[in-house]
Amino acid sequence: MPTPMRPAPDDLTERLETGFGHGKVILLGEHAVVFGQPALAAGLPQGVQAVVSRGTGRVSVPAWNVETDLVSSGPVSRAVAAIYRTLEATQLDVTCDAQIPAAAGLGSSAAFAVAIARAVGAYVGAPAELQAQAIFAAESVFHETPSGIDTAAASLGGLGVFSRAAGWKPLATSHAFELCIGLTGRQRQTSQLVQSVRQLCDRTPVARRVIDTLGDVTRAGLDALALADVDTLGRLFDVAHGLLAALRVSSPELEVLVHSARTSGAIGAKLTGAGGGGAVIALAPGHTHDVLAAWRRSGFTGFAVTLGAGGAP
Ligand code: MEV
Repeated sequence: MPTPMRPAPDDLTERLETGFGHGKVILLGEHAVVFGQPALAAGLPQGVQAVVSRGTGRVSVPAWNVETDLVSSGPVSRAVAAIYRTLEATQLDVTCDAQIPAAAGLGSSAAFAVAIARAVGAYVGAPAELQAQAIFAAESVFHETPSGIDTAAASLGGLGVFSRAAGWKPLATSHAFELCIGLTGRQRQTSQLVQSVRQLCDRTPVARRVIDTLGDVTRAGLDALALADVDTLGRLFDVAHGLLAALRVSSPELEVLVHSARTSGAIGAKLTGAGGGGAVIALAPGHTHDVLAAWRRSGFTGFAVTLGAGGAP
C-alpha cells in the first residue's frame, strides 16, 4: 500500500523553501568504492539549488531541459515522487537551478536529490534522518545500488574520504590546490557502467585485483594529500586512469582529454566518476590555463576549481 501523502497546510500557501546539493568530483577510488574500497572525493561549490512552493507537483530544471510532473514514468519524476512519498509531501512545485551538467560524472543526480529533499524537508518540517532516507530513495531510482559517495559529497561538500563501512570523513589539508575539470559532453548511465565492472570481475576474477589496487592507489593518495605532495597525487591520477581503462570504463573522448591535459603541462589526469563519457580531472599547477585552452582547442569545455584549505564548499 502506498503511504498517503500529506497535503501542504493552507497557511503555507505563499511560502518558498530552498535547498542546495553540491556537485562532486571523485579524485581517486571510483568503482572500487562500490566493492568496499575507500575513495577520495570533493563536493564542488557548484551544484543544484531547488526552490519549492505550493503547487500541483510540477518539476522543472531549465538548464537540463527537464519539465515534468510526479506521475510520469521517467527517472526524474520517479525520483522526486520517492522524495515526496518519504517526506509525506504533496501539492508542491519544485524548480531547480542546475549549475552542473546532467549525467556528466559530476554527481548531478545526487545534487538534485539532496537539493530537493532539503527544500521539501524544510517545507514540511521533516527531520534530517528522514531527509537522508528521501535522498537515498531518490538516488536508488537513478543508480539502483549506489555506494553512497555521491550523496555524501552532495550533502556535505569539501574534501572527504568515503567508504561504505565508515561513510564520509572530512579531510583537512594544509594547502589549497587547483583542479581542472574537463567535460566530454557525452552523457552516460552510472548504473550500466557499475554493472559492467561487476560483470567483468565476476567473469574474470583476476580483474578483481584491479579493484584492490585502486584501493591502494587511494590510500597512497591520502598519504600524498596529508604531505601536501601534489606531484605524487598527480602521478597517482595517471595510475588510476590506467587501471580504470583496464576495467573498460574509459572512452575515446576521455582519452583525448586526458592526453591533451598531459601534453599541456598536467602532472596527471584521469577520468572521474563512472566514466564511459562524463568528465576528466587534471592536476596542472602553473598550467591550469594551458590545459583549459587545449581542451577548448579540441572542442571540449572545462573549468577549474580550488579544493582543500580555503577551497570548496
Ligand atoms: C559514481 O559517481 C561513482 C561510482 O563509484 C558509483 C558509486 O560509487 O555509486 C562509479
